[in-house]
Amino acid sequence: MTKKESILVTGGAGYIGSHTVLELAQQGYNPIVVDNLSNSSLESIRRIEELTDATIPFYELDVVHPESLHPIFYEQPIEGVIHFAAFKAVGESVEKPLAYYQNNLEGLFSLLQVMDQHDVSQFVFSSSCTVYGDAEVVPIPETAPVSAVNPYGQTKLMSEIILRDVAQSRSGWSITNLRYFNPVGAHPSGRIGEDPSGIPNNLMPYITQVAVGTRPFLRVFGDTYPTHDGTGVRDYIHVVDLAKGHVAALEYQKAKPGVHTFNLGTGKGSSVLDVVKAFERATGKSIPYEIVEARPGDVAEAYADTSKASTILHWSAEFGLDEMCRDAWNWQSKNPHGYEDARSV
Ligand code: NAD
Ligand code: WQD
Repeated sequence: MTKKESILVTGGAGYIGSHTVLELAQQGYNPIVVDNLSNSSLESIRRIEELTDATIPFYELDVVHPESLHPIFYEQPIEGVIHFAAFKAVGESVEKPLAYYQNNLEGLFSLLQVMDQHDVSQFVFSSSCTVYGDAEVVPIPETAPVSAVNPYGQTKLMSEIILRDVAQSRSGWSITNLRYFNPVGAHPSGRIGEDPSGIPNNLMPYITQVAVGTRPFLRVFGDTYPTHDGTGVRDYIHVVDLAKGHVAALEYQKAKPGVHTFNLGTGKGSSVLDVVKAFERATGKSIPYEIVEARPGDVAEAYADTSKASTILHWSAEFGLDEMCRDAWNWQSKNPHGYEDARSV
């Protein structure tokens, strides 16, 4: 396979970043990873190298410091950047707003400055469905009104505004905001996956930890939402499909300067109990649960209108909920303590 471009992937050791680095390498790109390992392990990169037989250049550094990024742009023939590096926990962002604004916004500034100086103009940004707040209409199109109800969401909205202005500042920039819905699952090899530190905030890693015996039962946050079974409905998307969406965005934007925004989801809404049932079906494991109070700030229902990504990027999700559950469990059962298991052998 002929080598395509060199792509700098910030946060490439993390959950979505590692799956995207693997996908890039498999599609002939030359991914270069920058990560400060604040929420990840170098083991993910080692395993990507093992799966692909590629050598992935890795730089352990903080993207908020432009002076650390400059040498990489001299050393590597970087033609584009995919920017995952950010803090992502909604609850923590309410407790530590300054840390979130600083990390998520300064990281963006610093990267854009260095890219500008080195004349690199292809940029793909990890945005989030959180920018839709409590949307009035589902499925949610990209044209829906945006709002933020917590500092994390605010950093994504502000980043999109900054990127719009940067794209307008000179004609060469090609920038894509990818608004992910709920990424779950893991690479089917079971070698890389989601490795949350502490008690998971998100549904799927919580379920897999119940299945593996780390947690006794799932707490279902509310069963009186106006949904088909009263529990919250979301658009879960397999992380491998999400990774492919990034490659599709890179390929599309190359010939299309300006700023673009796409939802990446499946377009299908699943309730918490739908996920529990799908998990039990796909894995044969039983998931005990209790209904508890709704979680403050949660919306009843959010799922994507995916028609724009399908028409323009020619990308749509291929995996369904059963495969998401199967692969999440495959990863968790093979790595009960995530990458920690590799460190202790
Ligand atoms: P993650 O925490 O697994 O990955 C983020 C990576 O960035 C980690 O490896 C972390 O060590 C690194 N990082 C953080 N700050 C850094 C800094 N200043 N310098 C260098 N590295 C830094 O998270 P993820 O789930 O893979 O999310 C990736 C991106 O996608 C984030 O921007 C997140 O906000 C966004 N996103 C995630 C979700 C989700 O549910 N996982 C949904 C929508 C959007
Ligand atoms: C899903 C559903 C919960 C845990 C978050 C961020 C969002 C985006 C994606 C980054 C909801 C219910 C959950 C549990 C439960 N991330 N639940 N018991 O809240 O849709 O989105 O991740 O951009 O910004 O807010 O995802 O996985 O936390 O919750 O009942 O222990 O599962 O109430 O209905 P959410 P989630």
